[in-house]
Amino acid sequence: MKNLEHFIRVARALFQAPALPEAGRQMAMKVFERLEQPSDDGKRNLARYPACDLLDSALRPLLDETSSLGDTARAIKTLEPAIGWQRRTSGSNGSKDYVEKHVNGMICGPGGMESRYDVQLGFSLLAPNTRYPDHRHPPEEAYVLLSAGEFRQRDGDWFDPGIGGGLRNPPNSLHAMRSGATPLLALWCLLV
Ligand SMILES: [Fe+2]
Repeated sequence: MKNLEHFIRVARALFQAPALPEAGRQMAMKVFERLEQPSDDGKRNLARYPACDLLDSALRPLLDETSSLGDTARAIKTLEPAIGWQRRTSGSNGSKDYVEKHVNGMICGPGGMESRYDVQLGFSLLAPNTRYPDHRHPPEEAYVLLSAGEFRQRDGDWFDPGIGGGLRNPPNSLHAMRSGATPLLALWCLLV
């Protein structure tokens, strides 16, 4: 549990970065306030999927950095055995084989290391040249990028927030992401 507390502390700093939209920082602040109170119903999604094997190559460029990005990458690695893995299988416009070429890692949230229902904190991992389907969900969501990657909100243009940058998706608004030549790794948090 010390590893989880440490991860939450370093991830909290990333979601307060000036590179995030103000509304995203504010929402994330509420998520991390809730996370101060541990909660866990013990449910675990421990099955692994092919894309889990991309985690090391996605983390590698950050592992030697003495920044909060480096702290977060190292912290994710310590949590790997306890991450709750799941895949999205619905939504439109996903690239061919996107199901096999992505995985979502739940850390705090249903089926995660701290299985709870009031917030979600985890990450998405996409193989190179993969487009995640258009999707929407009632909870508001903020992302922080740990790699290169492009995002699209509603029918807008694709944009790359940059490593350490991020975005915020309002409740129920359509969004998607896609990777280029390297794996995409993005942390997300949702206020449920
Ligand atoms: Fe989303």
